[in-house]
Amino acid sequence: MSVWDRIFAAGYDRVMSGPEKATLRTHREALIPQAKGRVLEIGGGTGANLPFYDGVETLTLTEPDKPMVHRLERRLQERSPGALLLRAPAEDLPFEDNSFDVAVSTLVLCTVDDQPRALRELRRVLKPGGRLLFIEHVRADDQRLARWQDRLNGLQTRLGHGCNCNRPTIETITAAGFEITQLDRDVLRKAPPIVRPLAVGVAQTNGHPA
Ligand SMILES: C[S@@+](CC[C@H](N)C(=O)[O-])C[C@H]1O[C@@H](n2cnc3c(N)ncnc32)[C@H](O)[C@@H]1O
Repeated sequence: MSVWDRIFAAGYDRVMSGPEKATLRTHREALIPQAKGRVLEIGGGTGANLPFYDGVETLTLTEPDKPMVHRLERRLQERSPGALLLRAPAEDLPFEDNSFDVAVSTLVLCTVDDQPRALRELRRVLKPGGRLLFIEHVRADDQRLARWQDRLNGLQTRLGHGCNCNRPTIETITAAGFEITQLDRDVLRKAPPIVRPLAVGVAQTNGHPA
């Protein structure tokens, strides 16, 4: 565990408080209660979605980063003592096929090392017809901003603890075998321009790869 890992985890809620109040909270409030049944959240971070789960059958969270796991453990004890937390990356989920009704990813697909692989894993562990609920900042449709995202992505990944600002996440979700059934485009207010294009939605899988 590096010092930077610890600093990032300790400062995360404070750094995100502006975008959280200005944009993210509204989307979490609307989206997360749609998670029902057996629910998996990847990259749970400090537990920002926990207040918004409502009536799930089971809640399982994964988080690979040790300092984040410590924070999330504490948050779970306060808010969701019945939830299960496992230390694992989204690219290698320690679950059987068809284990969950719903998966949740908020600001995580920007950071996973291998986005197509993480999405294949999500598809594998979701039941046929299972849904992925997501809030992700993405590559800009505006070509000028997208070029700036490409130019500044090296700096962004260093400062943002592995967070990429230029990923075409919606296209990658679709390429992994999901159908987008709900999509809102928004702007992540109170955040630097290169991470402002925001995609909020639901994707559904109807089957599994051979
Ligand atoms: C920007 S934070 C988002 C945290 C939380 N989901 C939220 O909405 O506030 C990104 C999270 O993804 C986690 N992460 C990084 N690499 C990951 C991976 N390969 N698989 C799953 N989560 C990962 C980080 O440790 C961090 O907790």
